Amino acid sequence: MALSGKRILLIISGGIAAYKSLDLIRRLRERGASVRPVMTKGAQEFITPLAVGALAADHVFTDLFSRQDEQDVGHIRLARDCDLVLIAPATADLMAKMANGLADDLASTVLLAADKPVLAAPAMNPKMWAHPATKRNVETLRRDGIRFIGPMAGEMAESHEAGTGRMAEPLDIVAAAEALLHDGPKPLAGRKAIVTSGPTHEPIDPVRYIANRSSGRQGHAIAAALARLGADVTLVSGPVTIPDPVGVRMVHVERAEEMRDAVLAALPADVAVMVAAVADWRVASAADQKIKKHPGESIPTLALTENPDILKTVGHHTTRPTLVVGFAAETQDVEANAKLKLERKGADLIVANDVSPATGIMGGTRNSVKLIRRDSIEQWPDLSKDEVAERLAALIAEQLKQG
Ligand SMILES: Cc1cc2nc3c(=O)[nH]c(=O)nc-3n(C[C@H](O)[C@H](O)[C@H](O)COP(=O)(O)O)c2cc1C
Repeated sequence: MALSGKRILLIISGGIAAYKSLDLIRRLRERGASVRPVMTKGAQEFITPLAVGALAADHVFTDLFSRQDEQDVGHIRLARDCDLVLIAPATADLMAKMANGLADDLASTVLLAADKPVLAAPAMNPKMWAHPATKRNVETLRRDGIRFIGPMAGEMAESHEAGTGRMAEPLDIVAAAEALLHDGPKPLAGRKAIVTSGPTHEPIDPVRYIANRSSGRQGHAIAAALARLGADVTLVSGPVTIPDPVGVRMVHVERAEEMRDAVLAALPADVAVMVAAVADWRVASAADQKIKKHPGESIPTLALTENPDILKTVGHHTTRPTLVVGFAAETQDVEANAKLKLERKGADLIVANDVSPATGIMGGTRNSVKLIRRDSIEQWPDLSKDEVAERLAALIAEQLKQG
């Protein structure tokens, strides 16, 4: 268990997403971490210290000027006796205080005194997240070395407003904590990796697009696994609803052409892992305005044109990475199609999977893959996408070591 024996100081601030922190505590403890909670006054308006303390099986710290707490632990020791400080949810208010070095309650004082990695899971109304003040504060905090997970796009718990501001899901926060606390060997230190992930969206007009069912889970997991092994990872992702992994350089794109440009801009690299489900075709001339439906008129026909082949471009590039790995999502003749792809695209390895709807792989959390090389085919067992990522990252590290 990656979190076994790790001590997490969990700061809960006053957002509606505080209810998710209860589940987060359970998930962290299930994985072997101990959780010491600190709650702001605001947080106590949403969930009770009783519930938090019961789930954490620890005392809940709420007051900077508690003589008893100060005598027992003290705010400086509270800030230091941990491996990670996790803020979930992180309110706009608490982040504003942190960005300005304020220390007027226990949470902000502990954060100012902390000397361990700090991971924040912001949660707020989309307008608050988009406010220039919040943006400035987040930028300052990033420069100060604070790591972020989320927030995510989606509907808000209380206002049903849509936009970015929802707290990342507890399991995604756990994964980010695991990534930060990973203290295993770093065989990929000093190596550069480019990973693509997710679908591409090819516009028809300003409101419609052609897409596919890729969730980005496999590509994101691979980027995170390579980063855990010490690689300097650029993750180029199409539109997805999962959070950016911690510890990678993100480039968000929509279209295949944007993805190609971002990948080429990230070269040179030691390894490229092209996992994204890039649309093969795009609409030849996307309309500038929404295409209107006029009663009695004929139904429009979409003329398609070929998209750039990113894997092939990288596989034949003058600054080709030492190792080029492609993914082949097929619904029939998986092996034969993957072998063809290996040859045509100039890849060293194709990870092939059968994404027929019955397999549940596309958009799901598990994967069953075959590794296709020029001279061998290796079937891996049914694994979670995280496990596939871990194995593939280890294999990449081994292969690069052999040169
Ligand atoms: C119902 C309700 C929900 C709120 N939800 C959030 C939220 O999700 N995120 C946020 O930043 N502030 C939210 N606020 C505002 C904070 O509670 C407020 O800024 C408070 O001062 C935060 O204090 P703290 O940062 O010390 O916990 C909410 C307030 C109310 C009344």
